[in-house]
Amino acid sequence: MCANIHPWEAIFRNNDWPFNEPFADFGKVVEKYRLHSCHCLLDLGCGTGRHTLNLEKEGFRTVGADISPTGLGITQRRLVSENLNVELVLLDARYPLPFKNDAFDGVFSTQVIHHALTAQVRLAIHEIYRVLIPDGVAFVTIAGKLNEEYDYEEIEPDTFVPLNGSEKGLPHHIFTVAQVQEEFVDFILEDVSIVADGYVIKILARKR
Ligand SMILES: C[S@@+](CC[C@H](N)C(=O)[O-])C[C@H]1O[C@@H](n2cnc3c(N)ncnc32)[C@H](O)[C@@H]1O
Repeated sequence: MCANIHPWEAIFRNNDWPFNEPFADFGKVVEKYRLHSCHCLLDLGCGTGRHTLNLEKEGFRTVGADISPTGLGITQRRLVSENLNVELVLLDARYPLPFKNDAFDGVFSTQVIHHALTAQVRLAIHEIYRVLIPDGVAFVTIAGKLNEEYDYEEIEPDTFVPLNGSEKGLPHHIFTVAQVQEEFVDFILEDVSIVADGYVIKILARKR
């Protein structure tokens, strides 16, 4: 495999991501977007589109964005097969997002932004804030602990690089609830909960 392929591009090329259905609390997040009259959403790190597709079906105008061209290609095929037309954007969430301030009523991002160094995760949180309208709703999930199947090197405090496995070489920033409260300080935090045996921290927040 080419050394500079992003690990998630390789995962999608190898068809190694088995999740096609939305995650368990998807309906509750949709209700929250409706409650706040959200119309236009960003699915940041949409992968193969399981949420992009379903957000669009729920009636939201959705933009799907990801670093993996193969993930976006799979998303596009799924959308076409359901006669849906969604803007898909190839981007790297470790850098400023190619969207204007206040471009979205809601951001949805599951298991994406922790795949980076601390400064890059901070930038992604800042960018989510920037692209949301005031009172816009962010639903973000991040990593609460490491997958113990793999070995890791800690390259900066709370950031670990897997030495093996499919995400080898990709930094993972691991959060605590206290760190989430610190890093999302500009938002109104409505819910921060640890789920999936501690592997996932779920954040529901609004832009002040
Ligand atoms: C665990 S998968 C989750 C995919 C999708 N959110 C879902 O729940 O099905 C992680 C996703 O984050 C994307 N990703 C990782 N780093 C990224 C980055 N720097 N910029 C944009 N997308 C990124 C990967 O390509 C992959 O689609």
